[in-house]
Amino acid sequence: MDSHRHAAMPDQRGPDQRGLLRFLTCGSVDDGKSSLIGRLLFDSRLIMEDTLAAIAKDSRKHGTVGEEIDLALLVDGLEAERQQGITIDVAYRFFATPRRSFIVADTPGHEQYTRNMATGASNSDLAVILCDARRGVLTQTRRHAYICSLLGIRHVVLAVNKIDLVGFDEAVFDRITGDFTRFAAGLGFHSMLPVPVSARFGDNVSSASGNMPWYRGPTLVSHLEQVEPEAEAATRPFRFPVQWVNRPNQDFRGFSGTVASGRVATGDALVVAASGKASTVARILGPDGEQTAAVAGDAVTICLADEVDVARGDVLAPPADRPTVTDQFAAHVLWMDEEPLLPGRQYLMRAGNLWTPVSITSIRHRVDVNTLEHQPARRLELNEIGFCNLSAAQRLPLDPYAENRQTGAFVLVDRFSNRTAGAGMVAFSLRRATNIHTEEFLVDKAARAALDHQKPLAIWFTGLSGSGKSTIAKLVEQALHAEGRHTYTLDGDNLRHGLNRDLGFTDADRVENIRRVGEVAKLFVDAGLIVLCSFISPFRAEREMVREMMGEGEFIEVFVDTPIEDCIRRDPKGLYARAIEGTIRNFTGISSPYEAPEHPELRIETQGQTPTEAAARVLTHVRAVLGGVPGGA
Ligand code: ADX
Repeated sequence: MDSHRHAAMPDQRGPDQRGLLRFLTCGSVDDGKSSLIGRLLFDSRLIMEDTLAAIAKDSRKHGTVGEEIDLALLVDGLEAERQQGITIDVAYRFFATPRRSFIVADTPGHEQYTRNMATGASNSDLAVILCDARRGVLTQTRRHAYICSLLGIRHVVLAVNKIDLVGFDEAVFDRITGDFTRFAAGLGFHSMLPVPVSARFGDNVSSASGNMPWYRGPTLVSHLEQVEPEAEAATRPFRFPVQWVNRPNQDFRGFSGTVASGRVATGDALVVAASGKASTVARILGPDGEQTAAVAGDAVTICLADEVDVARGDVLAPPADRPTVTDQFAAHVLWMDEEPLLPGRQYLMRAGNLWTPVSITSIRHRVDVNTLEHQPARRLELNEIGFCNLSAAQRLPLDPYAENRQTGAFVLVDRFSNRTAGAGMVAFSLRRATNIHTEEFLVDKAARAALDHQKPLAIWFTGLSGSGKSTIAKLVEQALHAEGRHTYTLDGDNLRHGLNRDLGFTDADRVENIRRVGEVAKLFVDAGLIVLCSFISPFRAEREMVREMMGEGEFIEVFVDTPIEDCIRRDPKGLYARAIEGTIRNFTGISSPYEAPEHPELRIETQGQTPTEAAARVLTHVRAVLGGVPGGA
């Protein structure tokens, strides 16, 4: 690790010491972000002499700035570390002036990716948004400002950099400042200071520039020294997301984690947010043993006076000020994946220490980052921001992000790629969620199935249009019925005349199609039936989702594997011809993808096999699953 990143903070607290300010810089290398951070570190003289010497040599070698030291090399040098396989999403750098200490979140990454920026913003008090004086306010500038506002940053500095390259022109600065101020008016910033700077030459960074007598505002550094950050997490209600239950033996049981916000002391009354179970704090254990209190940021183990059920992911909170416990809520979602967000698709949500499947039930609107207009949307693309309704598989303790940046934030992870695909900020819990309970019936699935003497099942046929799914499904159903099994068939073409008549063939509509069919199939299985489902169901994610909706062993995926050339040749409905012509759009296999199953229970190659033979193979498998359960009377 580079010494300058972890150099101890100088212990020189002057009379006007204002404590710590956390900020982040937004902008790309082209805007001079690295140079600015390098300049701040350089001016605060925290750069080690030897590092400096090495950079002076390097700068001369690369010659990008003549005899000047290329400050960007200081920061970009970390790239090597990254290439060694150490993933750093955000690098935090420390520097100090006599009046204040600073932690600057440097968020590397390509300019088009907002992921790192969002991470840095979530725990910063202020953002320095950089723009290049020659290019002015760009879409990227607006996006950064909007994301900062969403992530709760209330103080921004617009650093109009490279002002030397426009001849220190006041008119250029005024125009850029005007553009930005008009845009940022609705973003709820408590302070917004535009500063003309040259990171390379140091103008208005830590010392006032002689080149711009027209600028009478503070330098960047003196502003950073003055700004009053918002109330800290320590003043918020107490929240303790339990990271693990520490139970080394029968005599000890504590809950370990980091205090997300607020303060707790021994004797305080607490509840487990989700269950409402109450107790009081008996002991608090910190790194140096027993302590009487803990505040936001402290890693501690809390022991309660009573034996109450607490699991990883639970949140401890004061009884009078609890988080909302909900499984449906509205949130802003910043999408950071190349694969678009599709409503109805399942993602994994990480909120605090809890992982849970979640899906976006609807996109209420998308925000145009240039105009801040609300637009209708069926999906969110990379870098887009939407206001969404979400539905989680379990009830979660959450706070509105505006009230708590720790317990109101979450990330969404793609279930297949494991990539962090989105970041979310909770707005509010949906009332409908809190008013709906689950009715327990007196007759259950097992009882219904017993009456039919069968094991309920979903047999899911997937494959291209014209692959033979429906033909095989029909034969299988006929045979099962003849054996006295109680069956039903759900078929794509048929359901699209009724339940799904509002859906077309975009990716988003297909996701919703399969989600609905999955719900219906689940009801049929719950009714004790053997349900045959015949849908192209082109996406792995939705097929997996339906599988998980069913009980163990209740889902049989049958991949009807017919080469597309055969489907085109057969073309039973004449659709391929039209798709190839271009008169039908988004046609599976032609202009829309099909993701073949990787581990289906059965793969049926239809080439060289009659439908009856194919059906016989399915029946053999199904009968084995049904096992000794006899057919009907
Ligand atoms: S799915 O992709 O959402 O699972 P589903 O199985 O319900 O599709 O419906 C597929 C049927 O709709 C096809 O068999 C075909 O008859 C018809 N169809 C019409 N347009 C398309 C299209 N663009 N892509 C695929 N199938 C289409």
